[in-house]
Amino acid sequence: MIDLFPLARPFIHALDPERAHSLTVSALSKGLSSNIGMSQSYKRLRTNVFGLNFDNPIGLAAGFDKDAEAISGALKLGFGFVEAGTVTPKAQPGNPRPRLFRLSADRAVINRFGFNNKGMHAFAGRLQNLRRPTCAGGGIVGANVGANKNTDDKAADYVACIDRLYGLSDYFTINVSSPNTPGLRSLQSKAALEDLVGRCLAVRKEHVAQGAVSIPILLKIAPDLTSEDIEDIAASVIGMDLDGLIVSNTTIARPKSLKSSDKDEAGGLSGAPLMKPSTEMLRSIYIATKGQKPIIGVGGVQTAADAYEKIRAGASLVQIYSAMVYQGPGMVERLKRELNQLLARDGHKTVADAVGADHI
Ligand code: FNR
Repeated sequence: MIDLFPLARPFIHALDPERAHSLTVSALSKGLSSNIGMSQSYKRLRTNVFGLNFDNPIGLAAGFDKDAEAISGALKLGFGFVEAGTVTPKAQPGNPRPRLFRLSADRAVINRFGFNNKGMHAFAGRLQNLRRPTCAGGGIVGANVGANKNTDDKAADYVACIDRLYGLSDYFTINVSSPNTPGLRSLQSKAALEDLVGRCLAVRKEHVAQGAVSIPILLKIAPDLTSEDIEDIAASVIGMDLDGLIVSNTTIARPKSLKSSDKDEAGGLSGAPLMKPSTEMLRSIYIATKGQKPIIGVGGVQTAADAYEKIRAGASLVQIYSAMVYQGPGMVERLKRELNQLLARDGHKTVADAVGADHI
């Protein structure tokens, strides 16, 4: 496969970041990726997590395809799974522009989109018409759900989305960690979290009682939590029927190392500077949950070595987003090839063998 992204990058990065992003999503939704090349499948990378078969552990993180418009195109880039959303019950415009900033010197991004999306009914329509590639594992699709900005009972919005989208995605993510919706992250506190998760699990139970399969429900958390928060979340997650965690969302912290002029823009920071703190958080959560719940590691992954580090720290699967802005879609095949080599080098027959290897 010839990677043309390095040639195209100066032109893409000359565009306003949000316009460049919309063009990319539009190109993927129109099938551009089918011309890029065949995606490779590696036996060692196949894995079963949450009872689902993944062709490989590299996924596209939420926020890239907010309206589930480009899922098949993204899967054709070689991802083992794509998480669409965050979707909310009602369509909403999000925050005023500009709201997306490239911090090129830091290989980072700041966004304050605020859940701009077309709403759960449009999202459901897209999922209904989805054609998945016929690769091993089929391409797993997650639906990341959230709350509208103006809803008082935020938990009711998550319940509405899960209810409407039930059976249309392979898993759900309860996103309580976006910094761009006021009040959202306070849902991570013990009482609010247990109420929210309890109500989401109850709606699943209703569907199962009517004969539907039980769809895994995950919780996506912020990297800016205290050790007390981590202990609380771990206890809640173990005590409830949640299937796993995603660690982590973007950070509101601004490391002193940042050099770019846009570093003080409000919003969530992602990309290279997030690798260390999000992996430390992942490590702490893995220890606090005693490895009992599968974790998707996300934040700052640029290379196969980064993905491998998250896996060794306790991630069963890994997601990427910001690195694609700088490396282009060809990075997915590169990550898979090199991760396969790293696992072979260390004598791991499967990726599952390496999960949490640092803790043994
Ligand atoms: C995001 N992210 C995100 N997460 C989420 O759960 N719902 C969302 O709607 C969004 N939106 C979003 C927009 C943009 C522009 C970015 C860069 C990120 C967070 C994303 O899924 C991921 O958790 C972080 O970006 C960290 O991973 P990377 O980007 O460092 O690989």
